[in-house]
Amino acid sequence: MAISTRISTLPKAELHLHIEGSLEPALMWQLAQKHQVILPYSSVAEIEAAYQFDSLQSFLDLYYAGADVLRDEDDFYQLMWSYLCRCREQNIVHAEIMFDPQTHTLRGVDYAVFMAGFDKAITQARQDWGMSVLLILSFLRHLSEAEAFDTLAQAAPYYSMISAVGLDSSELGHPPEKFARVFAKVRELGFKVVAHAGEEGPAEYIWQAIELLEVDRIDHGVRCQEDETLLALIKQRQIPLTVCPLSNLKLKVINDMAQHNILQLLDEGLLVTVNSDDPTYFGGYLNDNYVQLEQALAMNDAQLKQLLINSFKASFLPPAQQQQWI
Ligand code: ADE
Ligand code: ZN
Repeated sequence: MAISTRISTLPKAELHLHIEGSLEPALMWQLAQKHQVILPYSSVAEIEAAYQFDSLQSFLDLYYAGADVLRDEDDFYQLMWSYLCRCREQNIVHAEIMFDPQTHTLRGVDYAVFMAGFDKAITQARQDWGMSVLLILSFLRHLSEAEAFDTLAQAAPYYSMISAVGLDSSELGHPPEKFARVFAKVRELGFKVVAHAGEEGPAEYIWQAIELLEVDRIDHGVRCQEDETLLALIKQRQIPLTVCPLSNLKLKVINDMAQHNILQLLDEGLLVTVNSDDPTYFGGYLNDNYVQLEQALAMNDAQLKQLLINSFKASFLPPAQQQQWI
């Protein structure tokens, strides 16, 4: 069987996915009409054509503007439902999904609205095909520590729906140390901790995420190779890295997929995983990311198998549930 066919049929987990980054241009268009939001595009094709980025910030500007069409509970239900249906098609049996509360609360859309929409879709996917889903609340790091504390407090009625808390948005100039105190509170509350680090930011930000935030996982982390001591520590502690190849290519973290270091890191014994990050903006869902590795890096069967095992080993599922898929 061709490796691309095998990739699509094998069960896998996705651990780094921003739900707002799975908003399909067609849904964005439909919701803009529904709520009379004026988009700077005159067709779905124009939205798609606008997805050309030269940096993380150039993407984030469009991502936050696009999220403005999400207004009521049904919009958030449709957003989540559409991603979960993709999971079913792609054989993603377990997903750990990030959402950015501040992207919505700052526009006057309350937790009650988006959490109800997410919950309805997740409950339906659990019941209909046994999909397993965990939610990760992410703070926007370009905002202040006080706003992160406030966001955490506002989430209190929904703590039972949330498994982990993370850190995303503009990395450069917003080091993890800015959020050390709020993540101490996050850990005290019993949540797992993740943080984007070493995507555009330096290896120093990965150190801070490990030492100051005490992360359970690093999102991206591809720049860890710039510091041998750090690389050795990540390997020795088996701190998972949720790597997103198509995202790295589209945001110019790398210039060519053939330059991607994910398989080098894997072969060195790091617990790396493959993920799609913001699939509608970066041109591919999870299976497309695996196919890119096969085509550009000649990923072999053993590497594919290890990446699939890693996707479960690096998850926040209890070990007995991980074993079911390994
Ligand atoms: N928010 C959504 N996608 C992101 C990414 N790749 N990096 C940082 N913040 C993000
Ligand atoms: Zn991300």
